[in-house]
Amino acid sequence: MVASVDLTRKRWHDAGTYDVNTRTGGANGSIRYEEEFTHGSNAGLKIAIDLLDPIKAKCPKITYADLYQLAGVVAVEVTGGPTVEFVPGRRDSSVCPREGRLPDAKRGAPHLRDIFYRMGLTDKDIVALSGGHSLGKAHPERSGFDGAWTRDPLKFDNSYFLELLKGESEGLLKLPTDKALLDDPEFRRYVELYAKDEDTFFKDYAESHKKLSELGFTPRSGGPASTKSDLPTAVVLAQSAVGVAVAAAVVIAGYLYEASKRSK
Ligand code: HEM
Repeated sequence: MVASVDLTRKRWHDAGTYDVNTRTGGANGSIRYEEEFTHGSNAGLKIAIDLLDPIKAKCPKITYADLYQLAGVVAVEVTGGPTVEFVPGRRDSSVCPREGRLPDAKRGAPHLRDIFYRMGLTDKDIVALSGGHSLGKAHPERSGFDGAWTRDPLKFDNSYFLELLKGESEGLLKLPTDKALLDDPEFRRYVELYAKDEDTFFKDYAESHKKLSELGFTPRSGGPASTKSDLPTAVVLAQSAVGVAVAAAVVIAGYLYEASKRSK
């Protein structure tokens, strides 16, 4: 499951460079270039890029941009999170955005708004997406921060918000940007809602994740209707007509299940 965590962060860092005014950056696969993956905020993500290269080799028709976003969708689902609708068709770009478009964890609410509003996202998106920190941990050698946000960092659930409201807990991490979600009344409203109601968190998270994954991309048609079901995303997608994405989803899901078996 460790692989899922890397993939979740990578797909967000590829998409999160979007600038709604200049229509640059976004979910376009440019993070695969050294110029971008060596940005300070992308420390450690080369591992996730290398992880997907063999899948790209097996399914060469899928773009890197689609593959990274699809891997993020599968990763959230196999760790217990909601099904996020995936529509393929993103184009790859070789133009890397300048450094500094992703949030700085040492700053507060006005900075979070500057960064996410630039992407065209809202306060609700900021809080829902921050719930992605129910997965994974910080590494001192990458960001200078240390530790996980939750007690089970391989499980996608609403525990990020529950832990946030509990205040400082021994061994758990709270970034300055996490604390900003408590101090700002508009953000806090959503933190309290998501802590109380995991279904609403999953619903809002799935919507915000889809928005983020489509920054800089206009789907040509409605795409596959993917609803919450007991089936893995790969199978739901297999019911759609999008053959290339289906093949990649199956390979990704298979890989993640293998990786989870190995890490047990
Ligand atoms: C709100 C602004 C955000 C800030 C300031 C932020 C900052 C950080 C930092 C500092 C780390 C630690 C990196 C390391 O040392 O390895 C991290 C990890 C992570 N972030 Fe975020 N993040 C934000 C939003 C998000 C979003 C929107 C998602 C996904 C929806 C996300 C998913 C992750 C994941 C999964 C990890 C763990 C990676 C691992 O375990 O290797 N983050 N984030």
